Amino acid sequence: MNIIKVKNYEEMSQKAAEILLDKVRQSPKMNLGLATGGTPVGLYRELVQDHQQNGTSYTQVKTFNLDEYVGLSGDDPNSYRSYMNEKLFNHVDLPRESTFIPRGDTNNPGQECTDYEALLKNHGGVDLQILGIGSNGHIGFNEPGTSFQSETHVIELTASTREANARYFNSLDEVPTHAITMGIASIMRSKEILLLVSGESKREALAQLMEGEVNENFPASILKTHPCVTIIADEAALGKLAI
Ligand code: GLP
Repeated sequence: MNIIKVKNYEEMSQKAAEILLDKVRQSPKMNLGLATGGTPVGLYRELVQDHQQNGTSYTQVKTFNLDEYVGLSGDDPNSYRSYMNEKLFNHVDLPRESTFIPRGDTNNPGQECTDYEALLKNHGGVDLQILGIGSNGHIGFNEPGTSFQSETHVIELTASTREANARYFNSLDEVPTHAITMGIASIMRSKEILLLVSGESKREALAQLMEGEVNENFPASILKTHPCVTIIADEAALGKLAI
Protein backbone atom coordinates (compact mmCIF):
# COMPACT_ATOMS: atom_id res chain seq x y z
CA MET A 1 0.00 0.00 0.00
CA ASN A 2 1.26 3.40 -0.96
CA ILE A 3 0.52 6.08 1.63
CA ILE A 4 0.33 9.80 1.00
CA LYS A 5 0.47 11.97 4.08
CA VAL A 6 -1.42 15.26 3.95
CA LYS A 7 -2.02 18.03 6.46
CA ASN A 8 -5.76 18.04 6.78
CA TYR A 9 -9.15 17.20 5.27
CA GLU A 10 -8.87 19.93 2.60
CA GLU A 11 -5.52 18.67 1.38
CA MET A 12 -6.78 15.08 1.40
CA SER A 13 -9.73 16.09 -0.77
CA GLN A 14 -7.53 18.05 -3.18
CA LYS A 15 -5.00 15.24 -3.53
CA ALA A 16 -7.76 12.69 -4.12
CA ALA A 17 -9.33 14.93 -6.77
CA GLU A 18 -5.97 15.38 -8.47
CA ILE A 19 -5.46 11.59 -8.71
CA LEU A 20 -9.02 10.94 -9.86
CA LEU A 21 -9.01 13.74 -12.44
CA ASP A 22 -5.72 12.50 -13.91
CA LYS A 23 -7.37 9.10 -14.48
CA VAL A 24 -10.53 10.56 -15.99
CA ARG A 25 -8.51 12.71 -18.38
CA GLN A 26 -6.31 9.76 -19.38
CA SER A 27 -9.23 7.31 -19.70
CA PRO A 28 -12.45 9.21 -20.38
CA LYS A 29 -14.40 5.94 -20.58
CA MET A 30 -13.36 4.71 -17.16
CA ASN A 31 -15.52 3.01 -14.54
CA LEU A 32 -15.38 4.89 -11.27
CA GLY A 33 -16.29 3.25 -7.98
CA LEU A 34 -17.77 5.79 -5.58
CA ALA A 35 -18.29 5.94 -1.84
CA THR A 36 -20.55 7.95 0.43
CA GLY A 37 -20.23 9.13 4.03
CA GLY A 38 -18.60 12.30 5.30
CA THR A 39 -15.11 11.49 4.01
CA PRO A 40 -15.54 11.97 0.23
CA VAL A 41 -17.72 15.12 0.45
CA GLY A 42 -14.66 17.36 -0.03
CA LEU A 43 -13.48 15.26 -2.98
CA TYR A 44 -16.85 15.67 -4.71
CA ARG A 45 -16.76 19.40 -4.02
CA GLU A 46 -13.35 19.56 -5.72
CA LEU A 47 -14.66 17.62 -8.73
CA VAL A 48 -17.62 19.97 -9.12
CA GLN A 49 -15.37 23.00 -8.87
CA ASP A 50 -12.97 21.53 -11.44
CA HIS A 51 -15.86 20.76 -13.78
CA GLN A 52 -17.05 24.36 -13.55
CA GLN A 53 -13.61 25.88 -13.94
CA ASN A 54 -11.80 23.46 -16.28
CA GLY A 55 -14.66 21.62 -17.92
CA THR A 56 -13.42 18.10 -17.21
CA SER A 57 -16.08 15.96 -18.82
CA TYR A 58 -17.74 12.80 -17.52
CA THR A 59 -20.00 12.06 -20.48
CA GLN A 60 -18.37 8.68 -21.09
CA VAL A 61 -17.61 7.76 -17.47
CA LYS A 62 -19.70 5.19 -15.63
CA THR A 63 -20.03 5.22 -11.86
CA PHE A 64 -20.77 2.36 -9.48
CA ASN A 65 -21.52 3.09 -5.85
CA LEU A 66 -20.52 0.76 -3.08
CA ASP A 67 -23.75 0.55 -1.17
CA GLU A 68 -27.29 1.65 -0.36
CA TYR A 69 -29.62 1.35 2.62
CA VAL A 70 -32.29 -1.33 2.33
CA GLY A 71 -35.77 0.19 2.46
CA LEU A 72 -34.90 3.69 1.26
CA SER A 73 -36.03 4.79 -2.20
CA GLY A 74 -33.75 6.89 -4.37
CA ASP A 75 -35.90 9.93 -3.52
CA ASP A 76 -35.44 9.55 0.20
CA PRO A 77 -33.12 12.37 1.34
CA ASN A 78 -31.09 9.87 3.37
CA SER A 79 -30.56 7.45 0.50
CA TYR A 80 -27.11 7.27 -1.00
CA ARG A 81 -28.72 7.97 -4.40
CA SER A 82 -29.88 11.36 -3.03
CA TYR A 83 -26.45 11.96 -1.51
CA MET A 84 -24.73 11.31 -4.85
CA ASN A 85 -27.19 13.45 -6.80
CA GLU A 86 -26.76 16.33 -4.39
CA LYS A 87 -22.99 16.14 -3.92
CA LEU A 88 -21.89 15.28 -7.46
CA PHE A 89 -24.25 14.02 -10.14
CA ASN A 90 -26.44 17.16 -10.33
CA HIS A 91 -23.38 19.33 -10.91
CA VAL A 92 -21.38 17.52 -13.61
CA ASP A 93 -22.17 16.26 -17.12
CA LEU A 94 -22.40 12.60 -16.13
CA PRO A 95 -25.46 11.06 -17.83
CA ARG A 96 -27.81 9.85 -15.09
CA GLU A 97 -28.18 6.48 -16.83
CA SER A 98 -24.43 5.93 -16.41
CA THR A 99 -24.66 6.14 -12.62
CA PHE A 100 -25.31 2.87 -10.83
CA ILE A 101 -26.24 2.43 -7.17
CA PRO A 102 -27.95 -0.65 -5.71
CA ARG A 103 -31.70 -0.07 -5.37
CA GLY A 104 -32.68 0.09 -1.72
CA ASP A 105 -36.44 -0.01 -2.20
CA THR A 106 -36.56 -3.29 -4.09
CA ASN A 107 -38.88 -5.96 -2.71
CA ASN A 108 -36.25 -8.58 -3.57
CA PRO A 109 -32.92 -7.40 -2.13
CA GLY A 110 -31.25 -10.77 -2.83
CA GLN A 111 -32.03 -10.45 -6.55
CA GLU A 112 -30.87 -6.84 -6.53
CA CYS A 113 -27.49 -8.03 -5.18
CA THR A 114 -27.14 -10.68 -7.90
CA ASP A 115 -28.11 -8.13 -10.56
CA TYR A 116 -25.68 -5.52 -9.23
CA GLU A 117 -22.78 -7.95 -9.20
CA ALA A 118 -23.63 -8.98 -12.78
CA LEU A 119 -23.81 -5.32 -13.78
CA LEU A 120 -20.31 -4.73 -12.40
CA LYS A 121 -18.94 -7.71 -14.29
CA ASN A 122 -20.76 -6.86 -17.54
CA HIS A 123 -19.20 -3.41 -17.50
CA GLY A 124 -15.73 -4.87 -17.05
CA GLY A 125 -15.38 -3.95 -13.36
CA VAL A 126 -14.25 -0.82 -11.58
CA ASP A 127 -11.05 0.91 -12.69
CA LEU A 128 -10.64 3.21 -9.70
CA GLN A 129 -12.53 2.65 -6.45
CA ILE A 130 -12.81 5.44 -3.87
CA LEU A 131 -13.12 4.12 -0.32
CA GLY A 132 -13.61 5.49 3.15
CA ILE A 133 -13.20 3.39 6.27
CA GLY A 134 -15.54 2.83 9.20
CA SER A 135 -14.04 3.14 12.67
CA ASN A 136 -14.57 -0.65 13.01
CA GLY A 137 -12.64 -1.23 9.78
CA HIS A 138 -15.65 -1.62 7.51
CA ILE A 139 -15.30 -0.83 3.81
CA GLY A 140 -18.50 -0.23 1.90
CA PHE A 141 -20.87 -1.68 4.48
CA ASN A 142 -18.85 -4.87 4.93
CA GLU A 143 -18.94 -5.15 8.69
CA PRO A 144 -16.38 -7.12 10.73
CA GLY A 145 -16.71 -10.85 10.10
CA THR A 146 -17.80 -10.50 6.46
CA SER A 147 -16.17 -13.14 4.28
CA PHE A 148 -13.30 -11.99 2.11
CA GLN A 149 -14.98 -14.04 -0.64
CA SER A 150 -18.23 -12.05 -0.46
CA GLU A 151 -19.81 -10.46 -3.51
CA THR A 152 -22.65 -7.90 -3.42
CA HIS A 153 -24.90 -8.92 -0.53
CA VAL A 154 -27.34 -7.75 2.13
CA ILE A 155 -25.71 -6.97 5.46
CA GLU A 156 -27.14 -6.24 8.89
CA LEU A 157 -25.54 -3.03 10.13
CA THR A 158 -23.76 -3.12 13.48
CA ALA A 159 -24.98 -0.94 16.32
CA SER A 160 -21.83 1.19 16.09
CA THR A 161 -22.33 1.83 12.35
CA ARG A 162 -25.97 2.77 12.87
CA GLU A 163 -24.97 5.11 15.70
CA ALA A 164 -22.19 6.66 13.59
CA ASN A 165 -24.64 7.31 10.74
CA ALA A 166 -27.53 8.48 12.95
CA ARG A 167 -26.26 12.05 12.58
CA TYR A 168 -27.84 12.16 9.13
CA PHE A 169 -31.27 10.99 10.35
CA ASN A 170 -33.82 12.49 12.76
CA SER A 171 -33.21 9.69 15.24
CA LEU A 172 -31.35 6.41 15.63
CA ASP A 173 -34.62 4.51 15.09
CA GLU A 174 -34.83 5.86 11.55
CA VAL A 175 -31.43 4.48 10.55
CA PRO A 176 -32.09 1.39 8.42
CA THR A 177 -30.99 -1.91 9.94
CA HIS A 178 -29.74 -3.40 6.67
CA ALA A 179 -27.86 -2.34 3.58
CA ILE A 180 -26.90 -3.73 0.21
CA THR A 181 -23.15 -3.52 -0.25
CA MET A 182 -20.57 -4.60 -2.78
CA GLY A 183 -18.75 -7.48 -1.15
CA ILE A 184 -15.09 -7.64 -0.23
CA ALA A 185 -14.33 -9.74 -3.32
CA SER A 186 -16.22 -7.24 -5.49
CA ILE A 187 -14.18 -4.35 -4.08
CA MET A 188 -10.92 -6.26 -4.43
CA ARG A 189 -11.56 -6.76 -8.17
CA SER A 190 -11.13 -3.00 -8.71
CA LYS A 191 -7.97 -2.35 -10.65
CA GLU A 192 -6.97 0.47 -8.35
CA ILE A 193 -8.18 1.63 -4.93
CA LEU A 194 -7.93 5.04 -3.28
CA LEU A 195 -8.65 4.98 0.44
CA LEU A 196 -9.32 8.31 2.15
CA VAL A 197 -8.76 8.63 5.88
CA SER A 198 -9.25 11.83 7.83
CA GLY A 199 -9.63 12.84 11.45
CA GLU A 200 -8.82 11.59 14.89
CA SER A 201 -11.90 9.33 14.95
CA LYS A 202 -10.19 7.17 12.29
CA ARG A 203 -6.81 7.01 14.02
CA GLU A 204 -7.31 3.62 15.61
CA ALA A 205 -8.70 2.13 12.42
CA LEU A 206 -5.76 3.42 10.40
CA ALA A 207 -3.24 2.10 12.94
CA GLN A 208 -4.97 -1.28 12.87
CA LEU A 209 -4.86 -1.28 9.08
CA MET A 210 -1.18 -0.39 8.93
CA GLU A 211 0.04 -2.54 11.79
CA GLY A 212 -2.49 -5.34 12.24
CA GLU A 213 -2.87 -8.68 10.48
CA VAL A 214 -5.06 -9.49 7.51
CA ASN A 215 -8.20 -10.76 9.19
CA GLU A 216 -11.91 -10.88 8.41
CA ASN A 217 -12.63 -9.24 11.74
CA PHE A 218 -11.07 -6.09 10.33
CA PRO A 219 -12.43 -5.94 6.77
CA ALA A 220 -10.12 -3.16 5.48
CA SER A 221 -7.08 -5.35 6.27
CA ILE A 222 -7.67 -7.23 2.99
CA LEU A 223 -6.47 -4.11 1.17
CA LYS A 224 -2.91 -5.07 2.12
CA THR A 225 -3.16 -7.93 -0.37
CA HIS A 226 -4.33 -5.72 -3.25
CA PRO A 227 -1.61 -4.79 -5.78
CA CYS A 228 -2.62 -1.14 -6.21
CA VAL A 229 -3.88 0.69 -3.15
CA THR A 230 -3.12 4.30 -2.30
CA ILE A 231 -4.09 5.69 1.09
CA ILE A 232 -4.39 9.42 1.55
CA ALA A 233 -4.35 10.13 5.27
CA ASP A 234 -4.25 13.40 7.16
CA GLU A 235 -2.19 14.22 10.23
CA ALA A 236 -5.11 13.80 12.61
CA ALA A 237 -5.72 10.27 11.35
CA LEU A 238 -2.05 9.36 11.29
CA GLY A 239 -1.34 10.50 14.84
CA LYS A 240 2.01 9.02 15.85
CA LEU A 241 2.02 6.39 13.11
CA ALA A 242 5.52 6.25 11.70
CA ILE A 243 5.37 6.15 7.93
C1 GLP B 1 -20.35 4.53 5.91
C2 GLP B 1 -20.28 4.06 4.44
C3 GLP B 1 -18.87 3.75 4.05
C4 GLP B 1 -17.98 4.85 4.61
C5 GLP B 1 -17.90 4.69 6.10
C6 GLP B 1 -17.22 5.86 6.81
O1 GLP B 1 -21.29 3.97 6.66
N1 GLP B 1 -21.11 2.94 4.11
O2 GLP B 1 -18.77 3.64 2.63
O3 GLP B 1 -16.71 4.78 4.09
O4 GLP B 1 -19.16 4.39 6.66
O5 GLP B 1 -18.06 6.97 6.84
P1 GLP B 1 -17.54 8.45 7.09
O6 GLP B 1 -16.79 8.83 5.87
O7 GLP B 1 -18.80 9.26 7.28
O8 GLP B 1 -16.70 8.41 8.29
